[in-house]
Amino acid sequence: MQPKYEGTSLETVEWEDGVVKMIDQTRLPQELVILEISDVPTLVAAIRRLSVRGAPAIGVAGAYGVALAVHLHGAAGPALDDAISSLRSARPTAVNLAKMVDRTSALVSEGLERVLDEAHRIRDEELEASVSMGEYGADLADELIGEAAARTMTICNTGGLATVARGTALAVIQTLHERGRLEMALPVETRPLLQGGRLTTWELARMGAPFRLLVDGAGPFLLARGEANLVLAGADRIARNGDVANKIGTFSLALASRHAGVPFVVVAPESTIDMDTPSGAEIEIEDRGAEEVVSVRGVDVALPGVEALNPAFDITPVEFITAIVTDRRIIRPDQGHSPEDVPLGELRYPHPPGVLEVPRR
Ligand code: MRU
Repeated sequence: MQPKYEGTSLETVEWEDGVVKMIDQTRLPQELVILEISDVPTLVAAIRRLSVRGAPAIGVAGAYGVALAVHLHGAAGPALDDAISSLRSARPTAVNLAKMVDRTSALVSEGLERVLDEAHRIRDEELEASVSMGEYGADLADELIGEAAARTMTICNTGGLATVARGTALAVIQTLHERGRLEMALPVETRPLLQGGRLTTWELARMGAPFRLLVDGAGPFLLARGEANLVLAGADRIARNGDVANKIGTFSLALASRHAGVPFVVVAPESTIDMDTPSGAEIEIEDRGAEEVVSVRGVDVALPGVEALNPAFDITPVEFITAIVTDRRIIRPDQGHSPEDVPLGELRYPHPPGVLEVPRR
């Protein structure tokens, strides 16, 4: 893996001549480092380490990983099978990874160009989905909060770093900002890996949006005090009944939103809905071990040997969710709806062609 420094264009994950390139998100916000990965075990390690993270982004990384595996091992054989299965199981909770590995690996017998084409298509679909979620979500915000300026609380990082551009919940915040509707974004820092503190603030600053960073424990209290009028969260997997797996701490914000009477909205592309999983109870929650809890970026914050629990995600039951915004519909659990009974609508992509396109190499 060869790091490359500042000056490169900002692309979360992309393919270039047999190399998967990605921003190393573990180094942000202090350093913008682009990793260049040319073998599958290194890519799997990068996904596990969260160099690339966020459900749609790891789906795209997995798809390019299958292309890399075909590039290295050919269109069949045990080395290819091993590479594909290690990619598929690199992280268990976000359904996008397994879905996109399955989608691309179904094409390996047709050769590298076909697999790569599908991987690019997956990336382009996520890009379009981000734009569309922003539009649907910002319109819904108008419906939920009326003419009040938006004060949005959010968790983890759901921006372009977690997708390929703009994001999910953060795309809604960006669209509100572009429409002049955003008064304040309130990201919570998101222990243990601080995706909110490190990554969301970095993205909000780049888009010029007004924001204040909160420690995780401040979220529920500030909601109760009326500091936010909308909570927007992403999702790693949405079950058929509408239960949502997302970053640990999401459920606390949903409970606090209910207490405060603030709408709690989940924003995720259709690719994150898993109709094969009946409810949140069947979603595997990644356990990331004690190390991340007892030390923060190499600094001990507990005595060595302290034991810890570290579920990376939680489940928010559908009854705490006001709405689920996707790129093609708005599902309203607060009105008795679930992913099962709301038909798909149209993708909304009002940006002129080319404006958001990521170059293919
Ligand atoms: O562990 P992470 O950083 O991959 O977790 C990411 C999240 O929980 C996001 O909210 C989710 O993937 C949606 S991002 C568009």
